[in-house]
Amino acid sequence: MPLFVWNKDFSVGVERFDDEHKKLFGMMNNLHDAMREGRGKSVMSDVLKELVDYTHYHFQHEEKVMKEHFYPQLAAHQKAHKDLTDRVMEYQEQFESGKRMLSVEMVEFLVDWLKKHIAGVDKQYTEFLNSKGVA
Ligand SMILES: [Fe+2]
Ligand SMILES: [Fe+2]
Repeated sequence: MPLFVWNKDFSVGVERFDDEHKKLFGMMNNLHDAMREGRGKSVMSDVLKELVDYTHYHFQHEEKVMKEHFYPQLAAHQKAHKDLTDRVMEYQEQFESGKRMLSVEMVEFLVDWLKKHIAGVDKQYTEFLNSKGVA
């Protein structure tokens, strides 16, 4: 059973970002599955890295489009991205160095963060970007 299934309520009205959000949730499900199946550290490490890299890519992509159109709430949005990125990278470092195990709580935290971010922060750009012809 996937931990999270994307549905229309999470649409931000910009197709490329909806597609990236779907992919992010897919990766979180992969991480959750790998953990529940008790996969070894190297598998977990690869799955985590894939998620971290793609999250980074997605944040950069959103910020690039927001910048191009002079989105007025860019700074606050960037800060939200940076806070999460810092936290996840710290977690990844601790995992790689053996100081910490991956936990269900971490994956649930990520899913929860992403849901709230999409619904509360990403959705704020919908109207603005749509008005600039980005959909
Ligand atoms: Fe965002
Ligand atoms: Fe996003």
